[in-house]
Amino acid sequence: MRIAFINGSPKVKNSASGALLEDLKGYFSETNEILDLGFHTTDVSETVKAELSTADAWIFAFPLYVDGIPGHLLSCLAQLEEENVHHSKRQVYGIVNCGFYEGIQAKHALRILQNWCTKTNNPWGGGIGIGGGGGLAMMPKLEPGQGPKAPIDKALSMLAEKIEQQEIQENCYVSVALPRFAYKLGAQMGWRQMIKANGKKASNLADRPE
Ligand SMILES: Cc1cc2nc3c(=O)[nH]c(=O)nc-3n(C[C@H](O)[C@H](O)[C@H](O)COP(=O)(O)O)c2cc1C
Repeated sequence: MRIAFINGSPKVKNSASGALLEDLKGYFSETNEILDLGFHTTDVSETVKAELSTADAWIFAFPLYVDGIPGHLLSCLAQLEEENVHHSKRQVYGIVNCGFYEGIQAKHALRILQNWCTKTNNPWGGGIGIGGGGGLAMMPKLEPGQGPKAPIDKALSMLAEKIEQQEIQENCYVSVALPRFAYKLGAQMGWRQMIKANGKKASNLADRPE
């Protein structure tokens, strides 16, 4: 089976979407061929379109932006709509990660992708909404099922099974195995470090754009 892994984060490196796709890869046997594709900008190249047309399944992994799909990815989806790359037997799956702790936040983004599938005649295979995405790209690689990613590993392994069997799954929602307050504390430290690394202070968040 040829499976297209489509990273829909605008980040080329160190994205949670990329980390999730890497983890998912581990659940497929070597008889499958994985096509690593990135939708990091607003355009889909002709080469990528050609690769997509040869795949038996498409798996989109992307971040939740303002309760929906990132704008650059919507642009890519709109371009695919105009192409003849659709196939009534090719299942499309979605993995949406978000900064909030609760994976259910990704419900509407999964529905948007599902609606796109209906419009383009691609069968929707189901997906996962993953909460606590903020730290996923930085987490050390542990044995599957160990550490804060354990519930996510379980959801990914179940999704991989469905994909291999070309079956449909109900959308499901998971979060990192950390207490909510601990995740929130880590997130607060994370953005403060990031703003400092960019030469600003927390108080600058209130600045009006010039
Ligand atoms: C412009 C923007 C909008 C976002 N909107 C949401 C949101 O509505 N809800 C949420 O939980 N997280 C939101 N986030 C956080 C991202 O979903 C989160 O950081 C995610 O882990 C990034 O995934 P990636 O590394 O794969 O790009 C937003 C981030 C950005 C940059």
